[in-house]
Amino acid sequence: MQKPLPETALEPGTAAGVSRRLFLGAVAAGSAGVLVGGGASRAAARASIASIEETNAQALPEEDFWSKVRGEFLISEELAYMNSGTLGPMPKPVYYAVVDGYRALATDPGRENARQMKAQDELRQELADFVNADAGEVALTRNTTEGMSFIANGLDLKAGDEVLCTFHEHPGGLEPWKIKAKRYGVVVKELPFPVPPSDPSEILNRFEDAITPRTRVISVSHVTFPTGCVLPVKELAALARSRGILTLADGAHAIGMLDLDMQDLGVDFYASSPYKWAGAPVGTGFLYLRRESQERVWPTVATTGWDDEETGARRYDRLSQRAGPLLLATMTALEFQNAIGRARIEQRIMSLAARLRERLGEIAGVTLYASDDRELCSGLTGFTLEGFGRTEVVETLWRRNRVWVREIDYALSTVRASTHHFNTEDQVDRLAEGIHDIFKEGTL
Ligand SMILES: Cc1ncc(COP(=O)(O)O)c(C=O)c1O
Repeated sequence: MQKPLPETALEPGTAAGVSRRLFLGAVAAGSAGVLVGGGASRAAARASIASIEETNAQALPEEDFWSKVRGEFLISEELAYMNSGTLGPMPKPVYYAVVDGYRALATDPGRENARQMKAQDELRQELADFVNADAGEVALTRNTTEGMSFIANGLDLKAGDEVLCTFHEHPGGLEPWKIKAKRYGVVVKELPFPVPPSDPSEILNRFEDAITPRTRVISVSHVTFPTGCVLPVKELAALARSRGILTLADGAHAIGMLDLDMQDLGVDFYASSPYKWAGAPVGTGFLYLRRESQERVWPTVATTGWDDEETGARRYDRLSQRAGPLLLATMTALEFQNAIGRARIEQRIMSLAARLRERLGEIAGVTLYASDDRELCSGLTGFTLEGFGRTEVVETLWRRNRVWVREIDYALSTVRASTHHFNTEDQVDRLAEGIHDIFKEGTL
C-alpha cells in the first residue's frame, strides 16, 4: 500500500515561489523593464534548460539522466502519473512561463499584449522547425479536436463523397466527419483492422481495398487512442496521393512522443496537441496544412486576413486576441524537448512501454492490445483484465498503488497506460504489481 497523497497532490506555489524570487530579484536589481515580457520566467527557464543540456552532455547512466529530467517537473514523487495521453505535466520552465506571462499581462497589458501577439509567428516558426515543415504551413489551434474540425468543416465535399477512417478513431477526430455526414450526406467508413496487427500492411491493405472512385479523404489517427497502435500514415498518405485522395492525420499523441517529420510523412493535413507529450500548457495546438493543399480548405474562424492566401496557414488561425502566455510557454516547451533530444525521448518512451508490455504479458488474465513491433507500438498501452471492469481497475490502481491511468470507453473498452520519459522503471513495475494484486486480492 502506497503512502496516501495529500488532497492536492502538487504543491501550489512551489514553482511560483521560485518565479516570485526571480521576480523580486529583478525588482531589487532595479530592472523594472525586465518584468514586462516575462523576464523572470525566461531566467528560470534558461536555468532549467541549461541544466538539462549540461546533464545531457554528462553521459550519465540512463536512469540517472531521466531522474534529473524528472527533477525539472513539479509532479509529486509519490504519484505514478501515467496518463500523458490525456494531459501531460508541464515541466517547471513551462509553468514559470505561463505564470509570468500572465503576471506581465496584468502589470502592463498594452505593451505586453503587443509583444505576446507577435509571438504567434515565432511559435509558428518553432513548431515548423520541430516537425520539419514550413512556417507558412502551420496554423495555431487550441488542440487536435479543433484542428480536425477545421479540416472536416473546411473541405468542400458533396453527398456520396467518402471519408475513410479506422474503427479506433478518437471522437475528436471522428465526430467532425459525423457532422459532415449529417449535414451534407458525406459517407464515413470506419475500417476495422486486427488488434494488434502483426504487420502495417494489414492496415494498408484494408484501406487499399476500401478505396472507391468516391473516396475523397483518408482521415486516421497517427497513434490510436484505445490501444496505442501506430498506423502506417506515411504509406497511407502515399497511397492516397497516388489516387488523388487527401490525407488528414490525427496526431494528438505524436508530437513530443515520436520524432515527427511532416515532409517525410507526406500527409496533407496533420492536427496535434503539444500539451499531451510535448510539455506545453493546455490550450495550445497546431495544425499542419501542406502548402499545395491549402487551396482546398476554407477557414472556419475568420477576422481580417482570412482571405489572404499569401500568408499561408496563418489565415486558418485568425482568432483576434488569444492567450499569449500559452504561446510563449509552448516555445519554452519545445526548447525543453530539444534540450533533452527528441530521438532520446522517443527511445525512452518506447523502452518504458516495452517494459510495461513485458510485465503485463507475464500476468495470466491480461489481454494486451498493444503490439511489440517497434513500427506499430507507442507510449500508449491498452489492455483489459479478464473478470474485471475497466472503471474498478482504474480506481483500484489509484487507491491502492497511487498509479493514475485512464479508462477508455469509446471505440474499444480498455485500461490505458501512458509511459512518458519522466515515468520510471519502478513506476512501470508498480503498475504491473497493482494488476497482479487485483487478480490476487480483487478490486477495492
Ligand atoms: C487520438 C486522439 N485524437 C484526438 C484527441 C483529442 O485531443 P484534444 O483533447 O487535445 O483535442 C485525443 C485525446 O486524447 C486523442 O487521443
